[in-house]
Amino acid sequence: MEKIISMILLAMVVFVLNDGVYGTANDRETLSEIDRRLKLLNKPAVKSIKSEDGDIIDCVDIYKQPAFDHPALRNHTLQLRPSIDLPTEKMDKINESGWPVVIQTWQKNGTCPKGTVPIRRIRKQDLLRAASLEHFGRKTPEISYTANRKEATNNSKFININNTKLDTRDLSMVNRSAAVLVTVGYNYLGAQGDINVWNPNVDLEDDYTTAQIWLKGGPGDRLESVESGWMVNPKLYGDKRTRFFTYWTGCFDLTCTGFVQTDSKVALGASIDPISSRGGPQYQITIGITLDPNLGNWWLQYNNKVVGYWPANLFSLLKHNAILVEWGGQVFSPSVKKTPHTKTAMGSGEMANALLGNACFIKNVRIIDNSLQLKYPEWVATWGDEYYCYNVFNDVKDYRDGPIFFFGGQPGSNLYCL
Ligand SMILES: *[C@@H]1O[C@H](CO)[C@@H](O)[C@H](O)[C@H]1NC(C)=O
Ligand SMILES: *[C@@H]1O[C@H](CO)[C@@H](O)[C@H](O)[C@H]1NC(C)=O
Ligand SMILES: *[C@@H]1O[C@H](CO)[C@@H](O)[C@H](O)[C@H]1NC(C)=O
Ligand SMILES: *[C@@H]1O[C@H](CO)[C@@H](O)[C@H](O)[C@H]1NC(C)=O
Ligand SMILES: *[C@@H]1O[C@H](CO)[C@@H](O)[C@H](O)[C@H]1NC(C)=O
Ligand SMILES: *[C@@H]1O[C@H](CO)[C@@H](O)[C@H](O)[C@H]1NC(C)=O
Repeated sequence: MEKIISMILLAMVVFVLNDGVYGTANDRETLSEIDRRLKLLNKPAVKSIKSEDGDIIDCVDIYKQPAFDHPALRNHTLQLRPSIDLPTEKMDKINESGWPVVIQTWQKNGTCPKGTVPIRRIRKQDLLRAASLEHFGRKTPEISYTANRKEATNNSKFININNTKLDTRDLSMVNRSAAVLVTVGYNYLGAQGDINVWNPNVDLEDDYTTAQIWLKGGPGDRLESVESGWMVNPKLYGDKRTRFFTYWTGCFDLTCTGFVQTDSKVALGASIDPISSRGGPQYQITIGITLDPNLGNWWLQYNNKVVGYWPANLFSLLKHNAILVEWGGQVFSPSVKKTPHTKTAMGSGEMANALLGNACFIKNVRIIDNSLQLKYPEWVATWGDEYYCYNVFNDVKDYRDGPIFFFGGQPGSNLYCL
């Protein structure tokens, strides 16, 4: 049986290689290239945990994690915690049984020892699914319609946020359809939100769908971003589970080195349990991304726990602050903004107006400015690329605890998005 599997793998490798960047390599070289890559990505484990979702979580010595392979981090001194207490809010208690409500599936099957960090193991089949080794874990660059700013702006639509004019084409990316709440006009040192957890269908092989927070730096045609939330991405993860993800300019999770993990309980890319159901219990994850004002590292919090950070030296445009923050969903597909449209859903698959219990929400939307306090942003605007497919609604009046942003949709469910 094993022999057959390895023959199939070999055949797949040859196929991948024929179209990929390694087209001239012979089979043996390729397999060894894949092995070499896996060896770089996966560090020796102190302990490994087999999760019921099929993942293997390796507990890796915190000082031997992949981040330290990054050329800019050769002399990096590991920060075990931020230099200040990161501002957090008390989490909503949405389930009477108490905390923790949402877990990562692998946590049912063990814990990582002190001094180690949990890392989702990347396997051969994960690399073989990528278009090429170079594409693995990368997202295609977000090219906005204003990337070439000399281009006439006669078709531009502007959103006015206080007196900041935001060209909506800066929000609109090739091969992506977004439905977001956006704020500009300040220097942002952080952002947070409670993201409702769902499992939307992904239709085409290369598609993915997210619910997330973005912090972006730099002028519109050159972007740096840090992002986190949940995602369904079969190409990257090999299944259609809802997974906690991170991204920074270039790559998801730990597929490129750079992110330094400090927590022993939360793994990037791990699947989330349980998922909300229509009219049933609602589950959420709290995501926070905050700049350490003293050292310039961007820290990530998951359910108010510090997970790790992106070191200051990874950034140029996000060195001191972000200039734009977005909360919401994004569908990546070569078949957005055209007919036939991809059937990949966003959020819960319901349109925003289905509201609490049916549509996906982000609540407790917060930014952090120079005062280092959490605040609801002073000005917000909503934006969607394709309102008939994935729409948005920021409900500012119906909820006692402040505005709730709803977004999502299911292409094919109305005549205007087929
Ligand atoms: C690391 O430190 C060494 C010795 O101080 C120095 O030569 C080298 O340039 C440093 N590397 C980086 C990436 O900062
Ligand atoms: C993981 O834990 C669950 C729940 O305790 C158990 O049913 C399952 O058999 C375990 N799976 C593995 C691979 O140990
Ligand atoms: C933009 O609009 C102006 C005024 O209507 C027109 O003169 C100009 O040709 C337009 N530019 C382009 C590129 O369409
Ligand atoms: C909003 O815009 C007005 C006009 O430009 C400006 O005077 C005011 O300071 C702005 N508000 C803030 C809080 O920046
Ligand atoms: C609360 O969470 C637990 C564990 O996830 C679940 O079994 C239970 O059904 C939930 N109760 C409610 C009222 O949502
Ligand atoms: C968009 O998708 C098409 C089809 O897969 C691809 O050819 C094109 O390069 C993509 N464009 C960008 C900017 O990613």
